Amino acid sequence: MNVEKYVAVVDIGRLGKPAIVAHGGAGGWQVERVGEALQVLKKAVEVGLKQKTALDMVVEAIAVLEDSGILNAGIGSVLTFDGRVQMDAGLMYRGWAAGVGAVSYPRNPIRLAKEVYTRTRHVLLVGADADMLAAKLGLPKHPGPSASNFEKWVKSRMNAKKLKWAAPLLQLYGDTVGAVALDQEGHLAAGASTGGISLKHPGRVGDSPIPGAGYYAEDGLGACSATGIGETILLGMVCRKIVELLSKKSPVEAVKHVLYEHTSRFGADTVGVIVLSAEGEAVAGINTRAMPIGYGGMRSGVMLLERNGKVLEP
Ligand code: GLY
Repeated sequence: MNVEKYVAVVDIGRLGKPAIVAHGGAGGWQVERVGEALQVLKKAVEVGLKQKTALDMVVEAIAVLEDSGILNAGIGSVLTFDGRVQMDAGLMYRGWAAGVGAVSYPRNPIRLAKEVYTRTRHVLLVGADADMLAAKLGLPKHPGPSASNFEKWVKSRMNAKKLKWAAPLLQLYGDTVGAVALDQEGHLAAGASTGGISLKHPGRVGDSPIPGAGYYAEDGLGACSATGIGETILLGMVCRKIVELLSKKSPVEAVKHVLYEHTSRFGADTVGVIVLSAEGEAVAGINTRAMPIGYGGMRSGVMLLERNGKVLEP
């Protein structure tokens, strides 16, 4: 397999300190949805840049994406095979990580992950007990499946009736969101949030709450957030691998190395990443059709990265 044909990497360049990069998910991206997604990413970057710490930059930017309703996270989350919202989110900052898996209660799972980070020494809380914590802390409640996602669920359930829920439906993944940030103090943070894969088995947890897989940040090296088919990202430990490689490769080379390897192992249409180095250099890469990206720092902007390497900037 000629993996280079399926992978596109864009060098966004030096953003300085503070800096932030956010994405709206690697996937198919129909043209008519792109403009709205880029608007939301612009707002997420603006809100992120107003925060003081890299942790809050990532949390507040992701909360904007979760609240948008047009991306697969927070109130826009796709539904499980039996028609429920079950979300995953996670973040890493200053050598520690916290995630929540298969939660339904919070409107913003990334805020619940922050609570786990600040209030406990656990790395992962899941299911009903994580939901109970969100309720106890008074976090805003998720409104339930959106009308448009419910409609899509009804249609895809009909098409999927003859299939077993597993492998073939992995193709129906949506648009996980994520962000990476570098603050004035030089600390790095990374986070991810998702409704998971459309029609997933209830209880399925993907890469987004797992450090090393869906996100990873290490001061002095860099931060990474991933999107795509969670099962492959978990097996590939994509973000940990990229951040480790930053000790000996440039961000562009590190992303290319891991995405080529990932594509050769799992095929195309499986992954996208955003990366920020400790020096504030930003890079993004995909092996899917496209991924919308927002970035801010010394320079700000939005772009759609396409598989052919084309970068559309409005
Ligand atoms: N990357 C999101 C998921 O697979 O759940």
